Amino acid sequence: MKIVSLVGARPQFVKEALINGAVRQAAAWDHVLIHSGQHYDVGMSDAFFTELGIPEPKYNLGVGSGTHATGTAAVLVKVEQALLQEKPDALIVYGDTNTTLAGALAAVKIGIPIIHIEAGIRQTPMSMPEEINRRLTDHSAMISEGLLCCCSQAAAENLRQEGIVKGVISSGDVMYDLFCRMRGRFAPADVIKDYGIAGGEYIVVTLHRDFNVDSKETLQSLLKGIRALAYDAKLKVLFPVHPRTRKRMAEFSLSRILSEEDMIDPVGYVDLMSLVSASAFVITDSGGLQKEAYYAGKRSIIVMPDTGWREITDAGWNLLADPTEESLLRAGKAIVTTVPYPKHLYGNGNAVADIVECILRRFQ
Ligand code: UD1
Repeated sequence: MKIVSLVGARPQFVKEALINGAVRQAAAWDHVLIHSGQHYDVGMSDAFFTELGIPEPKYNLGVGSGTHATGTAAVLVKVEQALLQEKPDALIVYGDTNTTLAGALAAVKIGIPIIHIEAGIRQTPMSMPEEINRRLTDHSAMISEGLLCCCSQAAAENLRQEGIVKGVISSGDVMYDLFCRMRGRFAPADVIKDYGIAGGEYIVVTLHRDFNVDSKETLQSLLKGIRALAYDAKLKVLFPVHPRTRKRMAEFSLSRILSEEDMIDPVGYVDLMSLVSASAFVITDSGGLQKEAYYAGKRSIIVMPDTGWREITDAGWNLLADPTEESLLRAGKAIVTTVPYPKHLYGNGNAVADIVECILRRFQ
């Protein structure tokens, strides 16, 4: 049995690390890895392969950055070629990126079943690029008679409401498995020493969504709001800056709102989780990080109109905020209150084993 796995962006490398490791360990099937090249900076790509021990991909499509159409189309054409050459039993795609959608479209059109890991996540507005990608990928996976692996019952229910039932499994979250396996390697004391900060006295910030960083007014108001919140809470800011955000800050002349020492280059999984573990809380628009912070027992202010990880906000653990000073200051006051920790929202740390078993049962 042969399965092709397609990755392209940071969160997908993290998820692939575990699936890849489990498949190799059990010699479960012939696993062919394709990297689309959507993320290509060393700190956004190679660093994850090295740190998480992911083998060199058989194909690197080198598509790089572009508009949604150019990026998606380039992956679509090149993945189709690879799939025609490899003739796999199924294609694994992860999450909600343009790489995910392109892989799903290529596979469904040539009759290759799609295994969508992190299926059934839904958030508004439906016009968000990631939401478009999720919906089209899930529906392609259903049409292809593949597998839709959900992190929670709520995600499976979202699919049921769209008429997708067959092939749906509730496996739990692969990223929770990774957190459980890697937590022994987190070294908060060492990492914070490198940045000259003290535990509990800083906020980890990450921002990269188009609606937050591509408009000068929004990005300015967001950065000023974060500065005001940090001042009010007497906390420092530690902000690993996504290259997209770095470019926009330079283009809009907004690089001086936060101090130079607050802003660092993107960091790998272990360092980021170490930083989060010793932080006061997190401000982010990343789907992955809001969930990983929750695993580390930290709360997040999510600068988004909605989140796909509603179980955590419904429990009052994570809070949504607008990109304004007023909203961020309000969230900053609320995030330091005590809220009971909502346990076991996304499985028991055995998602990878469940997914591998379901794939074997379905395709062997
Ligand atoms: C993408 C995903 C998003 C995911 C995120 C994780 C889509 C539509 N979005 O967003 O779902 O949460 O990855 O990080 O697929 N850039 C570089 N170097 C890189 C990568 C990106 O300079 O290695 C810059 C380029 O200017 C690029 C921009 O960042 O145009 C945006 O990159 P892109 O991959 O399109 O989207 P992300 O914002 O990273």
